[in-house]
Amino acid sequence: MRVAIYPGSFDPVTLGHFDIIKRSAAMFDHVIIGVLNNTAKTPLFSLEERVNMLRDTVLDLDNVSVESFQGLLVDFARIKKSNTIIRGLRALTDFDLEMQMAQSNRTVAPDIDTVFLSTSVQYSYLSSSIVKEYARYNVDLREFVPECVISKLMDKIK
Ligand code: PNS
Repeated sequence: MRVAIYPGSFDPVTLGHFDIIKRSAAMFDHVIIGVLNNTAKTPLFSLEERVNMLRDTVLDLDNVSVESFQGLLVDFARIKKSNTIIRGLRALTDFDLEMQMAQSNRTVAPDIDTVFLSTSVQYSYLSSSIVKEYARYNVDLREFVPECVISKLMDKIK
């Protein structure tokens, strides 16, 4: 059974994330979305809200589940008996940080590999931060986030 972890903050989940989730689900037996509970940051959405929005988003994907985690990603991967971390790469600007994370994870956990998926071109500019900015200016969000996120985002911004 090949289990992959797709970690992130998901504040909130975007269609770019969802694209990576669907493609990963086609490659692995089970994909666990790991939502980071980062006590050092103050996200717009609570951990529970982020997990619930993701659960709604992946409702039709049988081999995808959503969980939160705290602490080191590689520890979470080990607990879940996974040796694969998935990350999406949008552009060169992502590369430095992603490479640093992948290499430091591999230094402390040589048995765990990071697999990078290139983001589909239509989502190459998209980020949770841009979506939150657009929401503040009443931009139509249908091209950017799953349907179930739109009203929650608009309520939050108000
Ligand atoms: O969506 P994000 O914020 O780009 O995701 C970043 C994430 C959650 C993958 C990263 O911050 C992470 O793995 N945090 C857990 C702590 C950890 O393992 N740190 C060491 C590797 S950088």
